[in-house]
Amino acid sequence: MKDNFTQIDDVKIYIDNIPPYIAETFYLLYNHNKLMGNKIFQLSNYDGDRKQFINRLVEGYLHNYNNVREILNAIMQEISVTPLLDLRINPNDNLNTTLKDFWYLRRDWCYYKEGEEQISTIVNSIKEVISENAYKKSLFLGCGTGRLSVDLADLFEKVYSLDKSYSMIWHIKELMKREQYEFYQPRNKNVLTLDNVAQKHSAYIDEERKRIIQSKVDFFVADIFNLPFDDNEIDCVFSIYFTDVIALKLWFGKIDQVLKKKGLFIHFGPLDYFFSDETEMFTAEEIRAYFEKNNYTTLIDSVVETPHLEDSNFMSHQVYKNWFFVAEKQS
Ligand SMILES: C[S@@+](CC[C@H](N)C(=O)[O-])C[C@H]1O[C@@H](n2cnc3c(N)ncnc32)[C@H](O)[C@@H]1O
Repeated sequence: MKDNFTQIDDVKIYIDNIPPYIAETFYLLYNHNKLMGNKIFQLSNYDGDRKQFINRLVEGYLHNYNNVREILNAIMQEISVTPLLDLRINPNDNLNTTLKDFWYLRRDWCYYKEGEEQISTIVNSIKEVISENAYKKSLFLGCGTGRLSVDLADLFEKVYSLDKSYSMIWHIKELMKREQYEFYQPRNKNVLTLDNVAQKHSAYIDEERKRIIQSKVDFFVADIFNLPFDDNEIDCVFSIYFTDVIALKLWFGKIDQVLKKKGLFIHFGPLDYFFSDETEMFTAEEIRAYFEKNNYTTLIDSVVETPHLEDSNFMSHQVYKNWFFVAEKQS
């Protein structure tokens, strides 16, 4: 693995040009909080008869707002003016009232029954196929808040786990330092009772998993387009809920380059596509054919159903029929 990283507030960053990256991170979080701040202000002025409901929402939004401010404070010193002014981002991009990180923190590190069920279904499906010690180094693409990398770590000597999002990796680093990290998941719809409107969650990494992370899991910020590895260095590449984030053709070459001969590519997820170009929205069948055309042999092609980021206190959640695909590189 390459060793030219930058460290900001204990987060390792393998990005060549740091100033624009930090400016973009700052801007996205700052803009999120600016919009949330406006919302909190508006709701605080509400004086109707649904005050209990509104107050609970405000309590949750405000707590999360302060959590995001903490991340902003961590990177504030690193901001330079020119890259900030050079940013070309649409400030009206739709507002997720809850930062995606909190959805993943809830599933990964709050140990609720429904989250544990999703995680164990994914982990067990993969463990049925990959035997312990058969492969040395694994790489997790877009690892989010990281639980899956940790729960699959016993299969490998070393786990590299990357995400382009500074805040996702920052949250993992904070959980390694703190006893617990509190956040809310406010919901304005699909709610049964007032008590469920804004629930406080407490995330923590248990001691055993902390030991696993310290001994073999390296969490860092990196972009799939610039992987900090030597050619043929990695034995298994995991793309769990990631293949549909960026068009496969744009990054296939990147993972193919770092994957060893006889190494595995493991996909798990529903091909939900988070981009808009239909010409790149491959079916599972087409992805399989794409890998086979590029000298991979298919080992597994099946479907595994899971709930996704379920919170049993609400009246709706997604259920994915995840495509589970494992392909071995031949040359
Ligand atoms: C749907 S989430 C999946 C999280 C995780 N794999 C899991 O299942 O728990 C996709 C992740 O990909 C990350 N991501 C998006 N673009 C990326 C890129 N270019 N390089 C690396 N990670 C990226 C996002 O920040 C996000 O955390």
